[in-house]
Amino acid sequence: MKQSSLQVPGFAGIHVALIMDGNGRWAEAHDLPRAAGHRAGVDAVRRVVEAAPRVGIGTLTLFAFSSDNWQRPPRETARLLNLVRSFLLQAARDLASRDVRVTVIGRRDRLPPAVQRAVDLAERATTWGRALHLRLAVDYSAREAILRAAARLAALRAPTREAFGRLLAEVDHDEPPARDVDLLVRTGGEQRLSDFLLWESAYAELIFTDRMWPEFDATDLEAAVREFARRERRFGALSPAAIA
Ligand code: IPE
Ligand code: IPE
Ligand code: MG
Repeated sequence: MKQSSLQVPGFAGIHVALIMDGNGRWAEAHDLPRAAGHRAGVDAVRRVVEAAPRVGIGTLTLFAFSSDNWQRPPRETARLLNLVRSFLLQAARDLASRDVRVTVIGRRDRLPPAVQRAVDLAERATTWGRALHLRLAVDYSAREAILRAAARLAALRAPTREAFGRLLAEVDHDEPPARDVDLLVRTGGEQRLSDFLLWESAYAELIFTDRMWPEFDATDLEAAVREFARRERRFGALSPAAIA
């Protein structure tokens, strides 16, 4: 009973979206500066990317930098974007050989030019990856994306969910477009979406964990996927048992 506004062949497996929250609090708890928390967060990213294909994940979307994160002090935003840049440069070298395709969703025009170049490089270097589609959400806001897609809606003769999903993919640079989110996990203890993938998560299963992002590892990811597998998704219909 799988429903998705966009069905994309090529990446077998579920779509997991991760809100990687708690870097700052983890650092504070260890008497470290926030920057150390963000660096430790990158190690956690490497762990989950490595584990994802073997736990049945075909698409992994990571919330790396939200459009609202621009409200943080410039020193912190610069550090975060620099980590995104170095991750992408390394991805261009390492992830291509591991059959991972990397793409970046969100606005690109406000990113520093060095980050924009790293995005291009990583996307081009990994374009043939088929084992995993890794999407990094950078300067991403779901509501802004929905607004920009809505502005293009008038050009459509018959608006449908599928057609709107395609417009959304267009404005987000979501190429190849991903299927809807199956499982959304947020670390760091908060239970909110913070403007992440609002349209695409309409029927996503949600898991909120108290683990801080730098502590998150392959075992946590596997446990989340196992919990997902135990849930019954009904998409508004009745379960077969209720119909009998
Ligand atoms: C998540 O950690 C990283 C980003 C938002 C980029 P935070 O920096 O939000 O960490 P906390 O929530 O302050 O602990
Ligand atoms: C969400 O975390 C954004 C990312 C993980 C990139 P925030 O820390 O920015 O979210 P709020 O402020 O707690 O809602
Ligand atoms: Mg936070």
